[in-house]
Amino acid sequence: VTGSAARPIGVFDSGIGGLTVLSALMRELPCEHFTYLGDTARLPYGTKTAESVVRYSVQAAEALMDLGVKCLVVACNTASSVGLAAICERVGALPVLGVIEPGAQSACAATRTGHIAVIGTERTIREGAYQEAIIGCRRNARVSAVATQLFVALAEEGLCDGPIVQGVIRHYLDPLFQASSSHPPDTLVLGCTHFPVLGRAISTVIGERVGIVDSAETTARAVRARLHAAGALEREGRGSVQFVATDGPERFARVGSRFLGREIAAEEVDLIDL
Ligand code: DGL
Repeated sequence: VTGSAARPIGVFDSGIGGLTVLSALMRELPCEHFTYLGDTARLPYGTKTAESVVRYSVQAAEALMDLGVKCLVVACNTASSVGLAAICERVGALPVLGVIEPGAQSACAATRTGHIAVIGTERTIREGAYQEAIIGCRRNARVSAVATQLFVALAEEGLCDGPIVQGVIRHYLDPLFQASSSHPPDTLVLGCTHFPVLGRAISTVIGERVGIVDSAETTARAVRARLHAAGALEREGRGSVQFVATDGPERFARVGSRFLGREIAAEEVDLIDL
């Protein structure tokens, strides 16, 4: 990637959830330009087959390559779980970073007891990529993984706290944290881009003693390290972001603002077809 310093960093998610990762990237790399692609027409990926997720992910990577990106951040846990190898194969020398390894590293750094819980979409949990990455990072870790698919819909709906949200959280997480088990997990990985907006409600339900980690900050640091090593870091000037989506710029802007933590105007979002 040497000599490509003026090119944007491509960030891809099945929809708007990856904006939580983009937000961390923009804080870590304020001089960089970003192109964020949300495949809103085909969201959710989490309930789809591995074959479909791989196909969609490769198409998104191709679209970002066509937009001239210098590196690719797969800011979707589901796509990172199943699509990373296929994307790497397709994009050749372009650096590709997923969110699973960074999330696993954060969890291993945070746990004291070695018992880590992971929540994510159905597909992410079934593929077992987090479980593998955590064990790869800390061999004696114990991993309890639960698919909490309904959390995606809650976040998409803008329902981030209150009795309905806490009821759904209890439905999925009580068996893990309240069970007769005398050794509940001490760390919870939010293995889905949509879950950080539910972080406070989750903490209320499972208790403040459980550490909650997500991949955003660690992924951002990994991207910085990779670009630095390649001599492709942007060190001066003001960064920028360009949004592209495969459906509904208005909804992308409205719901996405909450995920990014700043207003997005519908006019800022370009429609593309994959
Ligand atoms: N972006 C997806 C993930 O991080 C969640 C939404 C979906 O199912 O597409 O797994």
